[in-house]
Amino acid sequence: MTKIAASILSADFANLQHDCTRLLQEGADLLHIDVMDGHFVPNISYGAPVLQCLHKALPDAYYDVHLMISDPARYAADFAKAGAGLITFHLEAVPDTAEEVIAAIRATGCQVGISIRPGTPVEAAFPYLGVVDLILVMSVEPGFGGQKFLPGTPQRLAALDAERKRRGCATILEVDGGINAETGPLCVQAGADWLVAGSSLFHAADPAAVVRLLHGQA
Ligand code: DX5
Ligand code: ZN
Repeated sequence: MTKIAASILSADFANLQHDCTRLLQEGADLLHIDVMDGHFVPNISYGAPVLQCLHKALPDAYYDVHLMISDPARYAADFAKAGAGLITFHLEAVPDTAEEVIAAIRATGCQVGISIRPGTPVEAAFPYLGVVDLILVMSVEPGFGGQKFLPGTPQRLAALDAERKRRGCATILEVDGGINAETGPLCVQAGADWLVAGSSLFHAADPAAVVRLLHGQA
């Protein structure tokens, strides 16, 4: 079944535990932790200490960490220690050393994901099918919440899904950016397994209804 990862970037940071508890009660499956360094992307969010506190408060949640940073290998162990279940990094951040970053994350005991920006050909991720646990397709330019879904995304997901089926591997496909009740189902239809949703969940009057819709249960 489709999993819904709530991006805490749209939470009220002064009430993070409260907002996350609510979203999990409303049916979200995972917490998506967006880490931005002001270098790989033009924005700064938060780092491992925030995850550490959240994990201490909500130890049973699964933490899906999305590193939008220039040197992911350097920080992987910090995020693992802070409670990450899965750590995803961007291929564009480490064009020549992705294998080393994968090994560094594996060494922490976390699951491993790679991500591609909208402008990166989807074929760049093909060699990692069956190698990493998850491939994250960005449906907006990474850096900010609340952006508009890029309409070419379902085609990109479908290409990855077809290649995944051709190879018979079980790599999870995740999509992130501008996911709502309208765009989410298009992505699921194209092969996405995990949907990241920030503003459409945290700013909803009835988040449970949005989660049900994204789960395909409305
Ligand atoms: C964007 C982040 C996303 C973002 C999603 O760089 O990776 O996870 O928070 O937010 P919405 O769902 O509002 O587009
Ligand atoms: Zn993200």
